[in-house]
Amino acid sequence: MKTVTDTASHPALRVAVIGVERRAPDLARNFAMSPDWELVAICDVDRSRAELLARETGNPAVVASVDDLIAEHDIDAVAIATPAHTHHEMAMQAISAGKHVLLEQPLADATGAGVEMVAAAESRGTVLMAAHTECYTPAVLKIRELIAAGELGEILYLDAVRINLGFVQSGPDVFWDLAPHDLSVLDFILPGGLDPQFVSAQGADPLRSGKACVGYLTLPLSNGALAHIHVNWLSPTKVQQMVIGGSRKTLIWDDLNPQQRLSVFDRAVDPDRSDGGLDDAGQGAANSYLLEDAWSPSLGNSRPFALMVSSFAATIRGNQPAPTDGRAALRVLSVLEAATASLEHGGAKTTIPDAWAGAHALGTTARLGSVPGVYSPAGRGALR
Ligand SMILES: NC(=O)c1ccc[n+]([C@@H]2O[C@H](COP(=O)([O-])OP(=O)(O)OC[C@H]3O[C@@H](n4cnc5c(N)ncnc54)[C@H](O)[C@@H]3O)[C@@H](O)[C@H]2O)c1
Repeated sequence: MKTVTDTASHPALRVAVIGVERRAPDLARNFAMSPDWELVAICDVDRSRAELLARETGNPAVVASVDDLIAEHDIDAVAIATPAHTHHEMAMQAISAGKHVLLEQPLADATGAGVEMVAAAESRGTVLMAAHTECYTPAVLKIRELIAAGELGEILYLDAVRINLGFVQSGPDVFWDLAPHDLSVLDFILPGGLDPQFVSAQGADPLRSGKACVGYLTLPLSNGALAHIHVNWLSPTKVQQMVIGGSRKTLIWDDLNPQQRLSVFDRAVDPDRSDGGLDDAGQGAANSYLLEDAWSPSLGNSRPFALMVSSFAATIRGNQPAPTDGRAALRVLSVLEAATASLEHGGAKTTIPDAWAGAHALGTTARLGSVPGVYSPAGRGALR
C-alpha cells in the first residue's frame, strides 16, 4: 500500500483510466497502489462496470465519457485501454487539453492517425507513452541488457511463436491482436529498434471467420538478420517463445516457464572460423560451431505494470526518457499496417512506409529531444 512518506517528496500525479476490460483493471490497480499516482477516475461508456472497477481500486470517481472526464476532473494524465479505433480521438482530446497519455497497443488503427498523435504530443510537450508491458518484464529487460552488452554477438535471426486457443474477435485479426507484443519486444531489444526492410505476411482463416486466425510474419532486418513471428488463435497448446540466434550465443525466452524463462546457450555458428561455406572436398557447408554450456540468467523481480506506471511518472517529471515512447508504438503500427497490405496481396513483400514523413505534411517540426523528459534515441532513422 502507499504511505504518506512515499509521496512526500513528489506530490502524486493525478490519473484517470479509460476502459474497464482486460487491460484496464491491471492499470487501475497499479495506479491505485503506486506512490507516484492518485487514481482520480475510471471512465467507460459502460458505467456499471466502471463502478465495479472503481470499488476495487479505492473508489475513484466514475464518468461515462472522455468529454466529462476532461471537463470535470483535475487530472495530469490518462491511461487509455479501449479498442484501437477509439485511441486517436481520445488521445488527441487529452493531448490538446495538456494531459499526458499512456496508450495500450496498438497505438491506433492506422499509421496516419498514429503520426498525428505522436506529432501532437511532441508539439504540445506532453508525454505519449506506449503501454508495451512486455518491455517492463524482468525477462525482456534482461534480454535487452544481454544484447546491448554484446553477449549474443551479432543477431543472426529471431523467431517468435505466440499461439494459443484464443477467441476469434469481432474486431482485429490475429496479427493486430497478438503480433504487437512481439513487435514491441523486438523494437525494445534490438539496438536501433525495429527497422525492417519490408514485411511479408501470410494468414489463414480455416474457420471462415472473415479474418486471419493463423498468421506468419517475416521481417528482414537491416543488418541481414531475419525475424519471423508466428501468431495463432487456433492452437490447443499455448506457446509463448522467442529464439534469438546470435553469432556468439543463442537465447531462448520461454515466457510460460517461470522456473527458467531465459536460457542462454553458448552455442552458435562461428562465422569467423568458417571457411566460406565449403568443406574440404569443396562440397556443402563447413561450419565451425561453438559448443559450450547453457545457463539461465538470474532475473530481477520487478512487476511489469508497477514498473510501467512508475516509469510513466518519471518521464512526466523529466527524470528519464520514456522507455517505450510514442515513436516506438508508431514503428510497431507501421509494421502492422504494412502486414495487412501484404496479406491482401497474398504475402507480397511490402515496404514499410516512412510514417514520420507524414508528420512533415502536418506542419510539425517538433522532434523528440526538444521536449524535456522525452527521449531521442541516437542514431535512429526517420521514425526515431
Ligand atoms: N498489451 C496487451 O497485452 C494487451 C492485451 C489485450 C488488449 N490490449 C489492448 O488494450 C486495449 C483494450 O483492450 P481490452 O480487450 O482490454 O478492451 P476492449 O477493447 O474490449 O474494450 C475496452 C472498454 O472500452 C470501452 N469503451 C469503448 N469505447 C469507449 C468510449 N468512447 N469511451 C469510454 N469507454 C469506451 C468499452 O465499454 C469497454 O469496456 C486495446 O487497444 C487492445 O488492443 C493489449
